[in-house]
Formats: sequence, structure tokens, C-alpha cells
Amino acid sequence: MDRPYVICHMVMSLDGKVTGDFLERSEYGKFVEEYFKIHREYGADGFLCGRITMESGFPQPPVQYKHYEGLPIDRKDHITRKSAFYAVALDPKGRLWWNSGAISDSDEGYDGAHIIEVLSEDVPDTFLAYLQEKGISYIFGGKNELDLEIVLNKLKKLFGIERLLLEGGAITNGSFLEEDLIDEISLVVVPVAECNDCAAPLFKTWNYGSIIDPVKSFNLNEVKRLNDNGLWLIYTRNRTGDSSLF
Ligand SMILES: NC(=O)c1ccc[n+]([C@@H]2O[C@H](COP(=O)([O-])OP(=O)(O)OC[C@H]3O[C@@H](n4cnc5c(N)ncnc54)[C@H](OP(=O)(O)O)[C@@H]3O)[C@@H](O)[C@H]2O)c1
Repeated sequence: MDRPYVICHMVMSLDGKVTGDFLERSEYGKFVEEYFKIHREYGADGFLCGRITMESGFPQPPVQYKHYEGLPIDRKDHITRKSAFYAVALDPKGRLWWNSGAISDSDEGYDGAHIIEVLSEDVPDTFLAYLQEKGISYIFGGKNELDLEIVLNKLKKLFGIERLLLEGGAITNGSFLEEDLIDEISLVVVPVAECNDCAAPLFKTWNYGSIIDPVKSFNLNEVKRLNDNGLWLIYTRNRTGDSSLF
């Protein structure tokens, strides 16, 4: 495979929601801890999230944009350094003004991960100048839109990423599912129904109004009962079984 093996790893309510009040409630905190533990145990080479998840999980300080104005910068991939673990951000418009080249987090499963920004060629030169100064790596995934297969190819070829955790949110998961780029799904199921129409599901379509081909079947590989009525489910993509199932 000339791309990493992609594992979509998420915490979910009984009704398939990945956002909502249940994630903030202290009585369900143990399931989020379980999620982080599994994240560490996977021993992947990196994790990937959409811009909105990165923004909410790792807040960034305001930046003096003017300081970085200057000459035009070539749209060439920029590799600052190699690392044992990477934080890959889908940020096509260049909105994540990280304050350094690595994640700073209390969880050792995230702390120190070297940041790779995935950009479209549309981003301002100011943003590229900023990333270079901060020692943040970046790659281009397309002119205006991201081609996720090209992105994955580059992550393997340029950084040696073989196993990648895809960790949301719903839009990002949906766009990988749409391109059939998910090899495994790992779900920590919290024994509660979120019941909120505004809460996001596990997968959401990226092109609003478009319909994801529903015939994407997965084999159930493992079911593990967690303490306090939780579940850990592992599914792997069944690429041969689609047509025979429906
Ligand atoms: N339960 C869990 O395990 C879990 C895990 C992670 C996150 N979450 C939650 O999920 C929520 C955020 O999810 P979300 O669905 O709103 O947003 P998201 O998936 O985190 O980010 C979506 C954004 O990422 C960029 N993006 C994603 N896929 C792209 C593609 N194929 N092409 C181009 N750009 C792409 C776009 O950025 P631009 O808008 O800048 O173009 C898009 O708007 C948060 O509340 C977070 O807490 C839950």
C-alpha cells in the first residue's frame, strides 16, 4: 500500500453521536480516558484531525499577521524535521496559527507530536512564512480542494507514516469514508443516548447535499466490554464483500 493504514478512532454515544453534552459530563470521563489509552496503545505514527477539532483541542494564541508579510513563497512541500509521532491537521485555508512546531498537551499520547499542516495552494504567503518561522512542516493536497489520496501518499513517502489514527471530527471522517480511505474503525461506545439533533454523527458528508455511497461494509473484528457498561468495537474494511451483502 503506498499510503498509511488508516484507523478511524472515536468516542461515540449509543445513538452514534461524536459531539454533545455527554462528552462534558464527569460520569463519562472514564470513557474518554479509555479512548486516550487506546490511542496510546495503537502505537501509530501519527494522528490526523480536521481544522475544527484541532482548533478546539489545541487552542492557539492570536498572531500579528503583518509581521509575516513579505515575498511570494513557492507552493512546495516543506519538511522541517522527522519525528516518531506526528499531528496532521487538515487546514486547507490556513487558519491554524500554531505557536510552535509541536503539540503541547498533558496527555503523553499527544504531547510533542510534530505538526504537519495539510494545505491547499490557495493559502496566503503570510501563512507559509509563519509556518516556516515556527518550524512547522506543511504539504499541499491540491490547488483549491484537498485530494486525500495524494495527502496520504505524501504522508507515507515524505514522513514514513505507516499507521495513522483518523480522529475526527465528523466532516473529516466523512470525507475519508467517501474516498474509501478508512481501513479500520475503533469505537469507544459510551452507554448513553445523546438525543440532541445538533450533535454530530460519526460520519458527515463534506460536500453538503452529496450522498456518500452507502455500500461500504466492515467486518466486526473485536468486541471488548469496558468497565461501567462501555464497549470497544473494532471493525475492519471488507473490500470484497460489498456487492454480495446488499
Ligand atoms: N468523539 C470524538 O471522539 C471526537 C473526536 C474528534 C473530534 N470530535 C468533535 O468533533 C467536532 C468537530 O467536528 P467537525 O465535523 O465540525 O469538524 P472537523 O472534521 O474537525 O473539521 C472540519 C474542517 O476540516 C477541514 N477539512 C476536513 N476534511 C476536509 C477535506 N476533505 N477537504 C478539505 N478540508 C477538509 C475543513 O476546514 P476549513 O473549514 O478551514 O476549510 C473543515 O471545515 C468538535 O466538537 C470535536 O470536539 C469528537
